[in-house]
Amino acid sequence: MGEKMIKVMFVCLGNICRSPMAEFVFKDIIKKEKLEDKIEVYSSGTSSEENGNPVHYGTREKLKQFNISCSGKYSTLLKKSDYDKYDFFIGMDKSNIIRMKQIFGHDDNNKVSLLLSYQNLDKDIRDPWYTGNFDETYDDILYGIKGFLKYLKNSSLI
Ligand code: 4NP
Repeated sequence: MGEKMIKVMFVCLGNICRSPMAEFVFKDIIKKEKLEDKIEVYSSGTSSEENGNPVHYGTREKLKQFNISCSGKYSTLLKKSDYDKYDFFIGMDKSNIIRMKQIFGHDDNNKVSLLLSYQNLDKDIRDPWYTGNFDETYDDILYGIKGFLKYLKNSSLI
């Protein structure tokens, strides 16, 4: 068992649809598995377009189906200085990965990864901002998070 708190940052473009969904779905799992003292989760976006805005209606409604609240969450921009503050930066799609590496200027500690890579998939979480399909996004995010949790356990990080 690791002793240090694992700090995870989910990242998408706007931080109103996908990464907040990942943040609050993972927080719900963490609570149910009593891992609150082991894993800390946050989310941010690589674009300032939605900065300060609340979570998208579609994500809020999807989370509500599972009694998950995301109230008090507002879109925040990923900062270069975040790099040293988190252990994992998990992007929803490949463009998020490219932008993160541009913002940080490097990924010397291999902290940047793609969510579905934890299920051995080279696949993006499709953006419901464009697809309108929050169900598909939720299913893929949950699948990716389950893979990530398995990775943490198998690596004895938690
Ligand atoms: P997200 O979706 O990256 O999953 O939060 C988007 C939200 C807003 C915009 C693009 C994607 N936008 O262009 O404002």
